[in-house]
Amino acid sequence: MKQQDPSSEPLLRISRSPALRGKVSVPGDKSISHRALLFGALADGAVEISGLGLGGDNASTMAALRALGVPIRQTGTDARVEGVGLAGLHEASGSLDCGNSGTTMRLFCGLLAGRPFVSTLIGDESLSRRPMARVATPLRRMGAVIDGRQETTRPSRVGSPPAFGTDSPSCPPRALSRAPSPAAYHRARPSEASGAGWQVGGRRAWKPSEGSHINDLFPPLTVRGGALQGIEYELPVASAQIKSALILAGLQARGRTVISEPGLSRDHSERMLRFIGAPVSAEPEQRRVVVDPTGWNGRLRAGPVTVPGDLSSAAFLLVAALIVPDSDVTVDNVGLNPTRTGVLDALLAMGADLEIKVTGEAMGEPLGSVRARWSERGLHGIAVAGELALRSIDEIPALAVAAVMADGTTEFGDLRELRVKESDRIACIARELQRAGVTVREARDGFCVMGTGRRPCQGGRVQPDGDHRIAMAGAILGLVAADATEVPSQDIATSFPSFARLLQELGAMVG
Ligand code: S3P
Repeated sequence: MKQQDPSSEPLLRISRSPALRGKVSVPGDKSISHRALLFGALADGAVEISGLGLGGDNASTMAALRALGVPIRQTGTDARVEGVGLAGLHEASGSLDCGNSGTTMRLFCGLLAGRPFVSTLIGDESLSRRPMARVATPLRRMGAVIDGRQETTRPSRVGSPPAFGTDSPSCPPRALSRAPSPAAYHRARPSEASGAGWQVGGRRAWKPSEGSHINDLFPPLTVRGGALQGIEYELPVASAQIKSALILAGLQARGRTVISEPGLSRDHSERMLRFIGAPVSAEPEQRRVVVDPTGWNGRLRAGPVTVPGDLSSAAFLLVAALIVPDSDVTVDNVGLNPTRTGVLDALLAMGADLEIKVTGEAMGEPLGSVRARWSERGLHGIAVAGELALRSIDEIPALAVAAVMADGTTEFGDLRELRVKESDRIACIARELQRAGVTVREARDGFCVMGTGRRPCQGGRVQPDGDHRIAMAGAILGLVAADATEVPSQDIATSFPSFARLLQELGAMVG
């Protein structure tokens, strides 16, 4: 995220749009692209990747690998990575710039923890405010020396207290009793955090000052790698980034590393590493991964990798189709890994007309097509919490837009992690929806949206705080706003550079 004079920012202009129609493919999955590049670099030979995501985050991973001595030739969405193996990585001559990408920084911490040299990891303004103790603590326990900037007060913008109305974070009980809960929600374990969230019925209200004082570690980080020892570690939060960092460290450690997490986060690392011959076994029911390199020859198989389309990007187009009257949009060749499909389950529970077809598999990752059709009967409010919230963690901004256009109230809970994403997403979503004239209540670990039914909200200038997903959410809400919407567009390229073009192809008034 760059600081820029707001008057010189490039803007997307969005107007109320006619029906969106057509079939599109979205760019390659960002999470899988990171892993294809990184694990490809560790392989025993050349890895040809097709369908690579071309967003800024994946470019950061590619640049960091090159700086560590990995030859990568990229032509559009194809890349050839000359795997050098773990032993083939060498010390970079300068800092490794992770840009806006938390995944790059955290996965590289795990990778570099076991390399016998010193690395410095830096990031942009947003990444420099994101908490890194969560990854440094277990890696230190394994034997790595990791240093960073320490703060006791959370820096502003990411995780800062909300700008408005926190005294009464409650949803109307009537709406809650109407909200149907998807099956996945019933299976969810209640999280400890939910007791501190917004409440119905007058329990303690959240105060904006809570949670603003922290004791954490922030970038730039220095990683002095070396001999590692396997550990048993319970992650304090469900996180694929920390889990993947520990798997990478575990592959380089002496003895077994056992990682468990409070909920099952996305499992792309486990799937891909197992596929290429790494000694990683997953026990999803126990939310546990075991890495045991004892007796392993240290080699990872080279071979072709196909990256499916990114469901997190597709989510914006699907929600757009569900809220713009008479729309009918199909996104094909999209990843349908069950740890990522919470957004589809949530939309189905809201009454969305979705047709989901699994058509194949690529390296253990299911993929297929999703068709979304606007329907006369509309959407209705639900509860998104527990396991469902975890499986739709990156799609909450898109779901919040669906919630605006729904009948009744949608409550989003167990989402404390959203406060430390590219922005404080809870505060940003609440602020931007309020600006558009929507009633939103914010709480420590979630928020609650009073749906407008089909009533258009207000347009105006969206302030995404440099967050790509907030910018895209603001843009799709603009498709049904009463007046024009302007969205600073440069950060959208972090994950979805073709966002505006694909919307235009579908018929949206975006320019
Ligand atoms: C990601 C994991 C998620 C997600 C992020 C990408 C990954 O974060 O929000 O956008 O590729 O591993 P967590 O580490 O919190 O799971």
